[in-house]
Amino acid sequence: MCGIVGYVGNGPIVSILTDGLKRLEYRGYDSAGIAVASENGLRVEKAVGKVKSLEAKIHADWPDFDSVPHGAGIAHTRWATHGAPLEKNAHPHLDEKGRFAVVHNGIIENYSSLRANLIRKGHVFSSETDTEVIPHLIEECFEGDLVKAVTAALKQLEGTFGIAVVSPQFPDRLVVARRGSPIVVGVCDNEAVVASDVSAIISHTKQVIYLNDNDIALITKDSIDLRNIDNVPVTREISHIDWDAGAAEKSGYEHFMLKEIWEQPLSLANTLRGRLDENGATAVLNGLNLGPKDFASTSRILIAACGTSLHAGMLGDYFFEDLADLPTEFEQAAEFRYRNPIIQPGSLVVAISQSGETADTLAAVREAARKGASVAAICNVVGSTIARESGAGIYLHAGPEIGVASTKAFSCQVAALLMMALKFGRARRLSREEGLEIIDELKKLPDKISQVLASSSHIEAVAEKYACAENFFYIGRGYLYPAALEGALKLKEISYIHAEGYHAAELKHGPIALLEEKVPVLALACEIPGKDKMIGNIQECRARKSPVIAVSTIGDKEMAEHADDIISIPQASPYLTPILAVVAMQLFAYYVAKKRNCAIDQPRNLAKSVTVE
Ligand code: M6R
Repeated sequence: MCGIVGYVGNGPIVSILTDGLKRLEYRGYDSAGIAVASENGLRVEKAVGKVKSLEAKIHADWPDFDSVPHGAGIAHTRWATHGAPLEKNAHPHLDEKGRFAVVHNGIIENYSSLRANLIRKGHVFSSETDTEVIPHLIEECFEGDLVKAVTAALKQLEGTFGIAVVSPQFPDRLVVARRGSPIVVGVCDNEAVVASDVSAIISHTKQVIYLNDNDIALITKDSIDLRNIDNVPVTREISHIDWDAGAAEKSGYEHFMLKEIWEQPLSLANTLRGRLDENGATAVLNGLNLGPKDFASTSRILIAACGTSLHAGMLGDYFFEDLADLPTEFEQAAEFRYRNPIIQPGSLVVAISQSGETADTLAAVREAARKGASVAAICNVVGSTIARESGAGIYLHAGPEIGVASTKAFSCQVAALLMMALKFGRARRLSREEGLEIIDELKKLPDKISQVLASSSHIEAVAEKYACAENFFYIGRGYLYPAALEGALKLKEISYIHAEGYHAAELKHGPIALLEEKVPVLALACEIPGKDKMIGNIQECRARKSPVIAVSTIGDKEMAEHADDIISIPQASPYLTPILAVVAMQLFAYYVAKKRNCAIDQPRNLAKSVTVE
């Protein structure tokens, strides 16, 4: 999705802005641009394609770009929505007099009527974007005070925005605002930096302020003045970022995705740290803000999430029902928000989101809160909107996840859900011995993941053998059913192979018609309940000539008779086997995509954080 960076101060503005944009490249985009307001006036540069194309253009057109006197600048990476990825549609956008430059993330829903009105008043538009109405509105509302003009313009907008504005009349000022699309302000000495994502500013400061919806900030190099849209001063707490810029770099790995797959033992250890209580045979999850009575009296759990987080949520459904006798439902967050879900007293809504910014999951949180439900969020990004609005939950502490394909977040989400189910279970029906068994399993998990990673060259060889396939099925049962869906999602999103995840029992209700020798089946046949039935399902696939890759348990000699290729993972409890199977499938998808020369960290059409519906 789109990315925003802004800077005000005496530093080399252009380099600071383009460096910030590079740190947002992982989000996916198709064009980029910057605008710098200084005593020399306003300078705008845009380019289609990567930030390096923008840099090349700047170097060619603007030789003295790094001697810009102090000023304020904004920059943007655009992921096209309204209008094709062309230079004219790239941000920043300006009013026709060039008095105000704006970068924007989000969607302005009433832009056509606003645009028609502005055209009637004589404004001239030069792009097809929804964004361009904003600088024209600011120009229309301007009576000498920049913040007042921005506020008046924003009051006319319907939809979502995170914006940053500069003007050559005020080269020492930067104005930012948000409604539905994140903006974070870095707190620095003698300069200020803002962005839509903390990774763009972490090299400047670890102290940040997350704007709330309808906040507007007037920023100079020495001050941050925060107001709401009604011009009332507001205070927002300063959050500390607990990771370094290096964590958002590849550190010698070819891709972020590979780095993040390999980081999983450490990420998991961080998710578990301080949260396993062997004395009480339970988990310590103070962030949930629930007391013993709440754990016992919760009557129902509703899980809302999207994509990989939804697959983790499906496992959560099994955990809460199996370990805590808690009726649980999971739902795609968009469906949850629109279908008027029944929320009764005693319901707890659990929102799962790596980024904490997914639009549909955020809307589900708001819908749940509106109906009076308690809400808990499982997020990775500290201070993200979902985490803040939920007010309670579990942070994963997995470190920044940059690759578009979510990997380490999944394993940590599943571990967090298991700890949560353990906590509920111990308050309700789970024995001390059962609690201790789960803790023991969780403690062994990082080492077991390392064992899966150690077999990566075998997984690579298997992946290369199947990299030419154009269709794939992934099948599983029970705890391995959500894992099959996740394995298929990983393959399709980074290798562009059509991959279907199915419950193994569902195959013969239709999809089996597609099986033939060119359609491999990856079957999750590990040593947990349901394995015997899986063997039967594998036979059904082989009878249709589909080659079968089995993910099975180390030491399972029988599996060689049933599968063409085998990927072995360590023995683990049914609760944690899905994590190990998914790690193996992440590697499998990675190596298939690599063999096919795909853009692994930035797959086509995808964005890391989906902040629009
Ligand atoms: O940040 P979130 O966990 O809310 O993101 C949800 C999905 O957009 C995300 O998991 C997506 O499916 C990933 N690309 C999967 O790898």
